[in-house]
Amino acid sequence: MPGTVVIGSQFGDEGKGKVTDFYAENANLVVRFQGGNNAGHTVVVDGEVLKFHLLPSGVAQEKRILIGAGVVLDPRVLKKELEELRAKGKKFELGIDPRTHIIMPWHNLLDEGREESRGKTKIGTTKRGIGPCYADKAERLGIRFEDLVDKNRLAERIGAIFPVKLAILEKVYGLKVPFDEDSVLKEYSKLGAEFAQMLCDVSLEVCTTIDKKEILFEGAQGTFLDNDFGTYPFVTSSHPISGGVSIGIGMPLNKIQRIIGIVKAYTTRVGFGPFPTEQENEIGKHLVEKGNEFGTTTGRKRRVGWLDLPMMKTSMRLNGFTELAITKLDVLSGLEKVKVCTGYDVGSKKIDLFPYSNKGLENAKPIYREFNGFKVTGKEKKYSDLDKNARAYLEFIEKEIAAPIKLVSIGPGREETILK
Ligand code: IMP
Repeated sequence: MPGTVVIGSQFGDEGKGKVTDFYAENANLVVRFQGGNNAGHTVVVDGEVLKFHLLPSGVAQEKRILIGAGVVLDPRVLKKELEELRAKGKKFELGIDPRTHIIMPWHNLLDEGREESRGKTKIGTTKRGIGPCYADKAERLGIRFEDLVDKNRLAERIGAIFPVKLAILEKVYGLKVPFDEDSVLKEYSKLGAEFAQMLCDVSLEVCTTIDKKEILFEGAQGTFLDNDFGTYPFVTSSHPISGGVSIGIGMPLNKIQRIIGIVKAYTTRVGFGPFPTEQENEIGKHLVEKGNEFGTTTGRKRRVGWLDLPMMKTSMRLNGFTELAITKLDVLSGLEKVKVCTGYDVGSKKIDLFPYSNKGLENAKPIYREFNGFKVTGKEKKYSDLDKNARAYLEFIEKEIAAPIKLVSIGPGREETILK
């Protein structure tokens, strides 16, 4: 059985939630391997809108879902999401790896404090404590799920870590800290007791069942937010590229046979950082309004622009997509012309790959290829039902990225999906 991974090929928000939900129908397990509740996945089923930040989108299909070691987990958010889904009558089983790091209340404050102190070099984080939690994991000052569910260990860890965090929050960032060691221990040990039965060695379960079961690994964020290969420092703190699945689960690389790159038919970005094809004009207005480009997590308006092939070719190199899923094609419908960036003019030379450094993008002027506009009604059922101009656009993308398009999404609903 092939392990399948769904990856955001751009800056996140490509529509991974919808595609994961679509493929989850045939999966036995749906697993998250990185990121935390900075993600925002929206799934629409029979008109009902489900939004997740932490749980894998597989919950909409009522599958067994797992949270791997590479995720950072906020137990307050987990409690809220579980309550909301149960209130909607969703039934699913959840397993959480004991090695998963816990977002503690000081991580949220540190995220805020750091962003404020960055001044002009702000990243525009989601302020969910993601960066500080991953930093503590590397610093070996973290609290893991195995600690959360064991009151004595939790007390020991909090006792060792809290004074350090308190000093930083108060003395470095000048923040008022609205909790103390006892209140944190009380609240978090209660949460730990509630989630204790969910403890599951995800690495072991995945590795021992992947040859018999269909497992879908759901990426969060996108390739150019990768901590190493994205537009550093305007990145997240985890590894959303396909290689992230191996260390985020604790699984050999050769267990993944299918790598699906999710490509939005244009580009969006939340937060600061380079964006060569950004459109701050009438085209941008069309994309924001028609695409409802507002963050699921923070509600921030997304920055928007044309599809960028140098980015996509680099994404292909970093991820090794075996196939592509194109999302939100319907959002381009109605535009007179549709453009796609094929390279950049950088001073005297032209480049057709995304440079490794943001410096390389400073004076980059996109070179565009123009396509005739098209109409998408949302009623198309087969690939051949699509407007021929839309097909010309898709086939150009497919050829340039050098991976086959297997799915085209033409609306938010599960049924607005075409297989190619
Ligand atoms: P953090 O992950 O909250 O630390 O934020 C770092 C950067 O990644 C910011 O620019 C965020 O806007 C961006 N980011 C984080 N998660 C997502 C996501 O799920 N979609 C899009 N952008 C994200």
